Parts: sequence; C-alpha cells; structure tokens
Amino acid sequence: MVMVEKTISKKQFKKMILSKQKERKKEYKENLKEFPEEKAKLFKKYKLSIEEENESFIELRNVNKYFLVDKEYQLILKNINLKIPEHKIVVLLGPSGSGKTTIFNLVSGLIENEIGDVVINGTNLSFLNDEERTIFRKKNVSFVFQEYNLLKTLNNKDNILLGKDLLGTENKNIFSIEELIKLLGIEKEIKKNPNNISGGQQQRVSIARALIKNPKLLLADEPTGALDSENAKETLKLFKEINEKFGTTIFLITHNSAIAKMADFVLTLKNGEIFSFIENKEKLNINELDF
Ligand SMILES: Nc1ncnc2c1ncn2[C@@H]1O[C@H](COP(=O)(O)OP(=O)(O)O)[C@@H](O)[C@H]1O
Ligand SMILES: [Mg+2]
Repeated sequence: MVMVEKTISKKQFKKMILSKQKERKKEYKENLKEFPEEKAKLFKKYKLSIEEENESFIELRNVNKYFLVDKEYQLILKNINLKIPEHKIVVLLGPSGSGKTTIFNLVSGLIENEIGDVVINGTNLSFLNDEERTIFRKKNVSFVFQEYNLLKTLNNKDNILLGKDLLGTENKNIFSIEELIKLLGIEKEIKKNPNNISGGQQQRVSIARALIKNPKLLLADEPTGALDSENAKETLKLFKEINEKFGTTIFLITHNSAIAKMADFVLTLKNGEIFSFIENKEKLNINELDF
C-alpha cells in the first residue's frame, strides 16, 4: 500500500511523475517479453495492458489524482477502487466539488492520474501518453453535457455530423444519420439551428452527435440539469433505449438522487472518496421515477 500525502510541493509532484513513468516503462518492457507474438504487436501498437482476466469494462485501481491549488498539489481523488461491467447504466452522485467530473476526465483519458491504474475496455490508460489517450478517446468515448454544447453557427444536422468527424479513425459500426434522426424523433428540427429549438430538442441533437460514432462508453455530465422534469424523463428514456439497443455503457452524473433508481449501479462520491457503490437490484422504469 502506497502512502499518499494529502498535499505535496511542485518538486515532489514532479518527482512522483518521473518515478511513475520509469516504473511504467519497466512494466511495459517486462510484459512485452512474455507476450505471444500477435498480442505483442497489438500491445505495442496500442500499449494495451495485460488484463487477460479482466471482466470489468471500467476498472479503477488505487487511483489518486492531484490538482495544483495555490502553488501546492492537493489530493483531490483519494484511493478510488472501482469495477464496472460492460453494457450497464451507472449513475454517479455526489455534492458539488466531490470529484465527479474529475472521474469522467480520467475515465475518458482527458487527464492523467499520478498514482494507480485506469483500465478501460482492457486498455490501461496509465500506460498511454497524451496523444495515445486522445486516440483512445476518439475511438471509444462520447460526451453529453448539461448545456448541450452545440455550435450555434451550424444547423442541427451538421452539429450531429461533427460527432463523426471527431472519430477520426476507422470504425465500421458508425450509425447513419437518418437512423439517428428517426430514433431521436428530431426529423422536424434537423435543418434548423440550435437557437431555434427547445432545450429538450437541443439535448436530443447533442445525444445524436454523441451516438453517431457508436461509442462503447457514453459519459453524460448532468445531462438533465437544464431540463424540466418531462424533458428530463424523455432524455433518460433515450439513454435507456440506447443502452438496451446498442449495449452502450452509460455513465451519468446527476444531482438528482431520484434518477439513481433507474441505474444498474449507483456510485456516490464524497470529498474525493467513494462513499458507496451499490448494485441496484430493483430498478425502476423512467415513468416511475419521482421528480
Ligand atoms: N483543473 C483543476 N485544477 C485545480 N483544481 C481542480 C481542477 N479540476 C477540479 N478541481 C478541484 O477538484 C475538486 C473536484 O472537482 P470536480 O471533479 O469538478 O467536482 P464535481 O464535478 O463533483 O463538482 C474541486 O475541489 C475542484 O475545485
Ligand atoms: Mg462537475
């Protein structure tokens, strides 16, 4: 067990990063030696970790994350251990500042953790550099935000198509835009600009943008935060439908604990630590949610 300091200096932080890199390099080389030829090639290309018996889609092992606050590094996420299987809906609850968005940023490879392992779909992100994590994210992860983040100067169709451009690399399973428009019921909105449709409709467009590349993982940060309860429920129904139809793993941040009742798993953070992680044995339908 590593001793983890709550606050460290810039110098200590730098030292920690260097020692992590050295350790990773060594581990990487050792793993490569023992690997059968074909896998070694893949391993080399994508720097996959050896997770032969990994049944989890998302696995965080002893993850600690520091942020620079007033000239010192402060421990923001503390010793996070988590295993989430594939094709599930996970709701992430916790007060403001508890580390929810930071978890998303780690899981999608937007930022790097200093201690521990973040393993997504068999890829250990802790082995990857910035560029490699970007490739990983383009291939596997999409986002939905509270404020939709649509480009106002493009019409809704072109906004959705942006999600395809983000993919960059090959992916044979991308969806046709016609299919998505139908699924999301936005036929009438498609030629309009985001400013000329309602919030609920904008969220549908942003979900279509997220889905078009058929991501394995959909991260939704407060997706219903700006919606009234009717539109919120419609949005949640779409997530449920997407999860069932395409097997997309959906990780959803919310302040609304009523929403947790629709999830397969509920993760609650407090002060950067896991307060609870519970499998929901009696899931409710969206219509039964009380808000
Ligand atoms: N880039 C950053 N630099 C410094 N502190 C940060 C940064 N990102 C987040 N934090 C801090 O980390 C804590 C958790 O933030 P966050 O993950 O955004 O919480 P939540 O999404 O639960 O509201 C907060 O105290 C926040 O101020
Ligand atoms: Mg947040």
